[in-house]
Amino acid sequence: MSECEYEIIDSCENIDFAEVSELLKFYGLSDLDGDTQKRVFQNSYVTIFVKKENELIGVGRAISDGITQGAIYNIAVKDEYRGRGLGKRIVDEILTRLAGCNVVLYTHPKHIGLYEHWGFRRMRTSYAKFEREEYFEQEGFFVE
Ligand SMILES: CC(C)(COP(=O)(O)OP(=O)(O)OC[C@H]1O[C@@H](n2cnc3c(N)ncnc32)[C@H](O)[C@@H]1OP(=O)(O)O)[C@@H](O)C(=O)NCCC(=O)NCCS
Repeated sequence: MSECEYEIIDSCENIDFAEVSELLKFYGLSDLDGDTQKRVFQNSYVTIFVKKENELIGVGRAISDGITQGAIYNIAVKDEYRGRGLGKRIVDEILTRLAGCNVVLYTHPKHIGLYEHWGFRRMRTSYAKFEREEYFEQEGFFVE
């Protein structure tokens, strides 16, 4: 997909968060409604939205202190636009804005390998304490 066909936006202004909510719900990445999703993105350090004309076709965000640590969440590209380099572009845009930080993330077991494209490496020492722990247990997120 050529760059002039889509627009990268890093501000939450003029974003329809009902569209964000719908995209993340579609993939089961989040079940929050638009208003709550707006708060989540506004409270994030980096937000990236990809628009084609006025349609939201991709999102991603990171929480961070802006200096030392960052964590990436909610990377998604609308189904009909997948496989055209947009996911890569979203992660690249986030990493640029987190330059100098250690960056962590976790993904669904079915996407293991995806983030190796950006040089992420599996860790032996990460811990997580989740709400809805049963879901993460069932989906195979935990080592034991
Ligand atoms: C994962 C996702 C964001 C990738 O976006 P995309 O625009 O389709 O990806 P790109 O076209 O930029 O591809 C980037 C690279 O990742 C690879 N890739 C894409 N999806 C992958 C997956 N699930 N597992 C492993 N590699 C994957 C591509 O082959 C490509 O590799 P290449 O550069 O060597 O060709 C997109 O498929 C998506 O929205 N998936 C559903 C939501 C989701 O699961 N998000 C991730 C949650 S952590």
